[in-house]
Amino acid sequence: MKIAMVASESNPLAKTGGLGDVVYSLSKALVKLDNEVMIVIPYYDSIQRLPNLDISYVTSFFVGMSWRHEEAKVYMTIIDGIKFYLISNQRYFARQHLYGDFDDGERFAFFTLAARELFKNINNIPDVVHIHDWQVGMFPCLVREQHDTFYEKTKFVLTIHNPAFQGLMPRSCLGDFYSLPQYLFDNGQVRFKDQLSTLKTAIVYSDKITTVSHTHRKELLTPEGGMGLDGVLKMREYDFMGIINGVDFDEFNPSKDPLIAKQYSLKDALEGKEENKRALCKELHIKNYKKPTFSIISRLTWQKGMDLAYKGIEFLLKRGANVIILGSGEYEYERRAEELRAAYPSQMAIYIGYNNTLAHKIYAASDFVLMPSLFEPCGITQMIGQRYGTLPIVRLTGGLEDTVVPYNRFNLEKASGFGFHAFNTDDYIASLVMALDAFNDMDVRKKLINNIMRIDNSWSKNANTYLDMYKSMFTK
Ligand code: GLC
Repeated sequence: MKIAMVASESNPLAKTGGLGDVVYSLSKALVKLDNEVMIVIPYYDSIQRLPNLDISYVTSFFVGMSWRHEEAKVYMTIIDGIKFYLISNQRYFARQHLYGDFDDGERFAFFTLAARELFKNINNIPDVVHIHDWQVGMFPCLVREQHDTFYEKTKFVLTIHNPAFQGLMPRSCLGDFYSLPQYLFDNGQVRFKDQLSTLKTAIVYSDKITTVSHTHRKELLTPEGGMGLDGVLKMREYDFMGIINGVDFDEFNPSKDPLIAKQYSLKDALEGKEENKRALCKELHIKNYKKPTFSIISRLTWQKGMDLAYKGIEFLLKRGANVIILGSGEYEYERRAEELRAAYPSQMAIYIGYNNTLAHKIYAASDFVLMPSLFEPCGITQMIGQRYGTLPIVRLTGGLEDTVVPYNRFNLEKASGFGFHAFNTDDYIASLVMALDAFNDMDVRKKLINNIMRIDNSWSKNANTYLDMYKSMFTK
């Protein structure tokens, strides 16, 4: 099958979060299953600065956006058998960051329109165009409403990674950016919360819709967890699936990981982790590496439950534990991390930003990884943690509920982390206390590490689920 992923980010070229991991690792798994996979992303400034990329020029064309025309220059590189098409435009993508600008709506409208033109320009018709999140949500609507015969046989799949970002913009953007008629707003097709929503539009026009875990699918179909999308998703319920993400087991493999101080596997996990912990604590100036070590590797945003996280961290620091934070996000959360570090300099280390090497070291060195998320469509950190024998402590929501069996003293045989349900400090701290107890009980600790390092969270199962879903669209 010929599959085109169209997204705003993808590893290993541009990544700010789990979206970038998934677009790439799913594509890699689909290539292994003998499919032809292309990924289309913007050619961000940060990609231009990457060393050793073998990039070739493909084509260029103008993209019409209402009364103006913007040039798209397209480049290509092949990584792991995947063809990456990079769409460049100085005005929109020569910036320091990927998102967060006042004109994001316009930038990604340009990108969506350019991606649509690209396949025509290179005369390559995908069987499936798989779009991800709000940025490229208008693709199927454009094709269907403008009766684009080039895509007549193509099917469209939308994956919702983060329903909190809905691509809301004034109705005028429908004409200004996308050259689509206003009646699509008036008749409700693209209207949401009285604005244009590219995410809602994608739900209406895609052939299939997925989100990244079973539990999150259920949540999205309810008024409490649907973020307003439950109504429109209900209408598409029979074309809406939950497929849990996998982890790139080649990149995240403690027995072969070149970025960590000492490689280890199931049989020498305790010693291996201890050695990594010793090295990392030294590097980060944490005094006592024998103490239980808790980490956060995350975007520092409200979605990730940072308010709760800091309350837990304070509790842990008072108990003498070590804490490491790697991430960036809302200023207030970055500032509070710094405040805590200043109060407990010998127990805590922070890195504001993203650093892949450090992330690997933290996974290998930590005893626990914290994810008290407010909502979590899937979550990858908990699964990478499990691969490295690092016990996740999670709020049981979305994908966290699907991937962590919380330890409760009676289920040692199958427990795979720690968990709590209600988003409040007491329940959270109760789960931290349980984790500290488990740390001190060597038999329990060993058994839990053994359980989690045996879990197969690779793409081996679910890349096939995606493939079956793609195929099902052609056998009606
Ligand atoms: C988003 C979600 C996260 C998910 C990731 C990849 O970042 O918040 O839960 O794991 O997308 O699908």
